[in-house]
Amino acid sequence: MKAIDIRRQSGLPIKLDGHKLVFGQGMNKAVPEARTRNRMMPVLKNPGAHAPDEFYYMYRDVCMKKDAKKIRAAKLRYDITVLPPFTVGDEFNKTFGHFHSPVPGTKTWYPEVYEVLHGRAHYLLQNGSEFLVFDARKGDKCVMLPGFGHITINPSPNDTLVIANWVFPGFSSDYGPIEKLGGGQWYETVNGFVENRKYLVVPALKLITPKTISGLGLTRRPIYTEGVKNPKKFEWLWRPQDYLGVFEEYKKD
Ligand SMILES: [Fe+2]
Repeated sequence: MKAIDIRRQSGLPIKLDGHKLVFGQGMNKAVPEARTRNRMMPVLKNPGAHAPDEFYYMYRDVCMKKDAKKIRAAKLRYDITVLPPFTVGDEFNKTFGHFHSPVPGTKTWYPEVYEVLHGRAHYLLQNGSEFLVFDARKGDKCVMLPGFGHITINPSPNDTLVIANWVFPGFSSDYGPIEKLGGGQWYETVNGFVENRKYLVVPALKLITPKTISGLGLTRRPIYTEGVKNPKKFEWLWRPQDYLGVFEEYKKD
């Protein structure tokens, strides 16, 4: 199969060759880490079902070499994740899911922003009392709001999903709560969403629209391009306590 050029979507000279990324001239050659079946087992709806050895591939610190210093100085990191299309039993391929650590000295948590570079994504966000779902397509940007654990689904039967994110590199991810309860509050299957009965209370699904929002540096242009051009616009990723009002607005449709 011919490699797919994702330069226009990402703002970087990258091709998708099968399930692997090919980095063009001048790029940092990030090495992918694969999320294995063994690791995923505790969060699957159907742990006994047939599944591939590897579920998805995480490329951290993707950038043009010339931008690396500027990105680091801005307290940011740009990553790409590739999720091939398959199901395990009736459940779509997905990421493990995690919560971000709190921002020291505040009452909030580190957020994150995702952008779809190829394929289609569902982002599932849960914080105990609310459950939000983004239905995102190529070019869409989705904010993982502070305090929400998040899971990315590839709901497509055929298309590989490629997503990019900006994050503050200094936080830690907590996989424990989702691992302990066998996945998120809802599973997404070929027959729709199915409640995870290991949770005592499961909030109803609420659809949230991906949006461009200039106050957060999110335009129709790739987040890489915006972030490198004006990294100050993405300071909300490491200083979310100053943007709580913007996040509240963002949640309203
Ligand atoms: Fe995250």
